[in-house]
This record gives sequence, structure tokens and C-alpha cells, in this order.
Amino acid sequence: MTPRNPFRTLSGTSRLAGVMGWPVSHSKSPRLHGYWLAKYGIDGCYMPLPVEPDNFQAALISLRNLGFSGVNVTIPQKEMAMPECDELSDRARRIGAVNTVTFAKDGRMLGDNTDGFGFMENLRQEAPNAAFCSGPAVVLGAGGASRAVLIALLDEGSPQIRIANRTRKRAEDLATEINDPRIKVVDWPLAPETLCDVFLVVNTTSLGMVGQPKLEIDLDGLPKSALVTDIVYAPLMTDLLGQAKARGNPVVDGLGMLLHQARPGFHRWFGIDPEVTQELRDFVLSPD
Ligand code: ATR
Repeated sequence: MTPRNPFRTLSGTSRLAGVMGWPVSHSKSPRLHGYWLAKYGIDGCYMPLPVEPDNFQAALISLRNLGFSGVNVTIPQKEMAMPECDELSDRARRIGAVNTVTFAKDGRMLGDNTDGFGFMENLRQEAPNAAFCSGPAVVLGAGGASRAVLIALLDEGSPQIRIANRTRKRAEDLATEINDPRIKVVDWPLAPETLCDVFLVVNTTSLGMVGQPKLEIDLDGLPKSALVTDIVYAPLMTDLLGQAKARGNPVVDGLGMLLHQARPGFHRWFGIDPEVTQELRDFVLSPD
């Protein structure tokens, strides 16, 4: 990736975007969007925007007034962005959170949530032959990420989704709220029979992430053909994925979800639907 012009700078018509969060220093989004901006030679900039929750509303309005094309919104502001938007995509409304805001030419704020899209596109790219309607899925966890994954799987035609969560009530509330007969709450930890006929296992909990306890799960009853995926991407090969791979199951790591969820925003703000490639994965993972 050689810059076309080593002295390339922003111009008077550069398109501006960024990621708002508190903290935001951990975010990989500036590196990811920065890579695409350089790769496609776009006159634009994507910056980290550390915004304290109390300043969120004022900052969002200011960014619009400053001529930004849009922003990504990360924890803890994904829910806060919902009431600020003039229009919400169907998936943002159903997920109950916004991670991508676009400022329209007429000043309206359009809210979208691309987490479920990112989850599904990652699986489509890494496991292109997977037929999500061919068997039940097991989803571990009942937080915000779980909700995006559940909605994506329902839309993909999953015949049944079993949710297991340490706090069972949270899984029950989520199932009640989504209100689809294909969702069934099961015990945590999983009973052996829960896995015996499943097509897909997804970890949406923070277990297995660097600094967090490991996810204890017995995969003994899982069919060898079942796809196993994790939304945790640090480390890339979580214990869950390592265990599944060692017994012969196909596995997909969580980095691609992060990369693919960024595509709709980049497309809207900078005009190109960018590609997720191995080079991008290596770049995002490499130290600065
Ligand atoms: P996110 O929005 O990223 O999904 P979250 O809402 O904080 O984050 O949800 C984190 C998920 O990880 C939850 O399902 C949580 O389980 P609880 O609802 O019981 O809290 C799960 N989780 C986090 N730490 C856990 C642990 N030590 N054991 C089991 N589950 C854990």
C-alpha cells in the first residue's frame, strides 16, 4: 500500500468522519478506516473522538454543524445515540442501539446498526457454504452483542436459536422482547444435549477475551460439522475456537465482524464499499 503522493494532505473539500466513545483510545476503527482511505486514495479523514457521555448530545450536533459526513458510536453511547437520530434503520430499531450515524445534506441524523450485518458478512466470507437455515444455533450471552447476533440469525432463516446466559433472567427478557417463537432460553452452563443437533455455536460473552476468565464449555456432544465462532478477537484464537478446531469443527474468528461492520458507514461517508482482505486483517492487528 504505497501512498500515491507522499505529501498528500487534506483539502478544502475533504470528507470527515470518526468514532465517538469514552474511552476511545482502544478503538481500532481509525486504523481500519485510515487503511481504506489510503488504499482507495480518498480525500478524507477518520479520527478518534473522545467524548464524555455528558457531552454526547452536544458533540453529535457540533459534528453535524462542522460538516462531518458521519460518525461511528461506541460503548457506552450506542443507546444514547438512538433518541438523537431523526430516522432509524429497521435493524437499529430492532437491535435497540445505533453504531453508525450519517449526517444527511438536509441536516437530519440517520441512525443505523451494522453489528449484525458485520457478524453475518464475516461468516459469509469465511464459511461461504454455511446454510444457516439447516439447523439450530446456540448463542452464548445476552448483552448488546447477543441481540445483534440473534436478529441477524433470525433474518437469515435460522430455524431455532438457543440462548444461554449466566444470568438467565437477562436471556428471558431478551427473548420476550424480541418475541420470536424460534428463540428458546436454555441452561447455562449448557446441558450436553443442547449441542447434539446444532449447526452453529456463537460466543457473544466477554469470556475468553484478554484479561477475562476463559469460557468453560464442553463441546463433546457437538456435531463435527458445526461451525463455531466467537465475537472476541483478542486473542484471535480464543480457547473456544482452539478447542473446536482441535476436534475438527470449522471455526471463524471475531476480527472479521469488526471489519465488516465498518463497511456500511465507510460506503455512505466516502462513497466506496470497501473490501475486507487478509492485508487489512494483518494491518489492523499489527502494532503501530
Ligand atoms: P455486550 O453489549 O458487549 O454484549 P454486555 O451487555 O456487558 O456486553 O454483556 C456481556 C455478556 O457477557 C453477558 O451475557 C454477560 O453475562 P451476564 O448477563 O450474566 O452478566 C456475559 N459475561 C460477562 N462476564 C461473564 C462471566 N464471568 N461469566 C459468564 N458470563 C459472563
